Amino acid sequence: MTFPKNTPKFTRNELNVYRRPSEVSQVTAALRGVGRNLALVPTMGALHAGHRELIRRAKRLPNTIVAVSIFVNPLQFGEGEDFEAYPRSLDHDLETLRELGVELVFLPEVEDLYGRSGVTVTLDPGPLGGELEGEMRPGHFSGMLTVVAKLLNITRPHYAFFGEKDYQQLVLVKRMVEDLNLETRIVGVPTVREDDGLALSSRNAYLSEEDRRGAAALSTALGMGVHAGADGAEAVLDAAHRELAAHPEIEIEYVELRGTDLGPAPVDGDARLLIAAKVGRTRLIDNTPVPLGAAATGGGDQDAVGDDDAAGDGPKAATAGTTPSQQGY
Ligand code: PAJ
Repeated sequence: MTFPKNTPKFTRNELNVYRRPSEVSQVTAALRGVGRNLALVPTMGALHAGHRELIRRAKRLPNTIVAVSIFVNPLQFGEGEDFEAYPRSLDHDLETLRELGVELVFLPEVEDLYGRSGVTVTLDPGPLGGELEGEMRPGHFSGMLTVVAKLLNITRPHYAFFGEKDYQQLVLVKRMVEDLNLETRIVGVPTVREDDGLALSSRNAYLSEEDRRGAAALSTALGMGVHAGADGAEAVLDAAHRELAAHPEIEIEYVELRGTDLGPAPVDGDARLLIAAKVGRTRLIDNTPVPLGAAATGGGDQDAVGDDDAAGDGPKAATAGTTPSQQGY
């Protein structure tokens, strides 16, 4: 593999670590220049099995170098949120990336991405950016989209992988790519869960033992909602609320049923059930696909919280958040 002169060093089959945007831009441009595809997996580190699944999916693409970014993005944390306390485990993360055979990691410092004086131009996520998570966390999606746009521009990947765990994030990133004519194909990956259904999250580390037991009720509530899908939207929401009401330690922020694009839910067809709640002092989010009305009785096992884990085990599990062409990688 011959790169243009002065390209920073890149060694195949090793984990190459870059801190500066200009270095990673040059290396990724050189890789594209020799005909490699690039897949980016943006993360904030504290890597767990959810992140690992994104990386594994990316690695299935033929002729593709997988790049992972680790950056705890201050711009997407609000005042009073956990930016300082956010779990950081760099050595462990690098070990994980080596084990998975990742060849490129981008590890910028805040100053590398935002300069000394800080960022001034940011992205506007549009109306959806003020709903659901955006209503609870003002400014979050503007900060998230700004950093994702920067990461996509720096690395110019052919593909970028995002988890359905953060469903609204996935929908907004797809919309940004479409609205701003970016060339990266966004791939959504179903949520990876613990055995009791709890969606993996770096923030689960904040849960006390007792809260950890209660936290499983979020995914149980989603499952109850899915089972009520044939009876329509109201029944879904009632079922989810009933389950959560049995757990007084859970403080609900929202339980909402929407369309797969996060517009209004259809009467009949594919919808998305989303929950945000505090368990003790820890804020958690989760969501699941829900077939509504006749779509729910159209055959197959509709236990979507279970289905969500089983990557590609039928169109229902894979459809939410991805177009058919985006699944076909
Ligand atoms: P982070 O929370 O580290 O998540 C990185 C990616 O992993 C996101 O796409 C997220 O949806 C996915 N992910 C997290 N938990 C998952 C799970 N249990 N199953 C499947 N995927 C999961 O999301 C961010 O970082 C940031 O907002 C980022 C996109 C990096 C921008 O700063």
